[in-house]
Amino acid sequence: MEKDLLISRKSIQDRVKELAAQISSDYEGKEPILIGILNGAIFFFADLVRELSIPIKIDFIRAFSYGSAKTSSGTVRLTKEVEIPVQGKPVILVEDIVDTGLTLKNIIKAMELKSPESLRICSLIDKLERREATVIVDYCGFQIDEGFLVGYGLDYDEKYRQLSEIYVLR
Ligand code: IMP
Ligand code: MG
Repeated sequence: MEKDLLISRKSIQDRVKELAAQISSDYEGKEPILIGILNGAIFFFADLVRELSIPIKIDFIRAFSYGSAKTSSGTVRLTKEVEIPVQGKPVILVEDIVDTGLTLKNIIKAMELKSPESLRICSLIDKLERREATVIVDYCGFQIDEGFLVGYGLDYDEKYRQLSEIYVLR
């Protein structure tokens, strides 16, 4: 499948550093738990946490959304749960891309049941075109209007995740 370069390695690195600086400043004196949402967020997560200048803990969850390739049904099952206790702790969920917002909305609902002190969202990409659920992305890497992106963790049918730059599929 043809793909065009959209975001270079350098742009990703620069933006990740800016986000990390912002998070480090906002959470000064705290020890947030950063929770990466597998699989898509792995590279973003790994790069982001290593740029933080505050103490943190890390953990991961994995969500399986039902629905066809095109539509997100909004029903989400966690196939890997968070293992560090988050009750009373500041939590930051780290996602690869927010599209309709339905997946994240359900993950937020599940996470809120665990009564964290606070819950914020950090997403590499905020794709606005198909938003259905209101999800506030507190820390956003890049906003795009439309298009299907691959690379740097983002997949099409589980392919392209390993690319170090972000492409748009034609
Ligand atoms: P949502 O429930 O529609 O927000 O779905 C978000 C999930 O769909 C993301 O975590 C991705 O796994 C996938 N997704 C949405 N848009 C893209 C894209 O452009 N490239 C790769 N995956 C995408
Ligand atoms: Mg995903």
